[in-house]
Amino acid sequence: MRIAVLASGKGSNFQNLVNLSRDGILDIEIIKLITNKSNAGCINKAISSKIRYEVINDKDFKTSEEFEYQIINALSNNQIELIVLAGWMKILSERFVNSFKNRIINIHPSLLPSFKGNKAIERAFINKSLITGCSVHFVVPEVDSGELIVQAALAIKSDENIEDLKEKIHSLEHIILPQGISEAGLIIRS
Ligand code: GRF
Repeated sequence: MRIAVLASGKGSNFQNLVNLSRDGILDIEIIKLITNKSNAGCINKAISSKIRYEVINDKDFKTSEEFEYQIINALSNNQIELIVLAGWMKILSERFVNSFKNRIINIHPSLLPSFKGNKAIERAFINKSLITGCSVHFVVPEVDSGELIVQAALAIKSDENIEDLKEKIHSLEHIILPQGISEAGLIIRS
């Protein structure tokens, strides 16, 4: 399956997908990485993995329409079957989402529908939730609200610290995002 990854951060999920693809464990071809941050860690990972990448910085555009138009341009003519948001921190408009209807998935660090939006791990921790996790879901215009594809749960121990919890959730993300991509591929191709 031909995929594009959109990421704004350090890119550990992106790197994991690159590794699984390279090792023949996940049947995907990563056609392109798009990031909206010129200093994002995912850029160096793309360079060292020889994956094409493009920086499309939202700050360079007067409107979000122009910004998204540039992303659509960067994706077009690449026969992209699935767009994977892997730590992408910009909300995509209804127009953008609908132009790739049911072909965008996102990884979110909570057990949705709990803790939608930013700082989900911190909020679950502060809230003293007994359980949290991560979710892969289809993207719809409402933030973190599309149909769930895969989730993984873990208990928050009473003596847990936030950094350990973040690390555990990231490790779980590296397991369920590839599963979510496979599942989404089956749904898209059915
Ligand atoms: C992940 O926790 C993801 O759920 C969140 O941003 C983080 C990205 O991590 N939306 P990385 O850049 O893939 O390391």
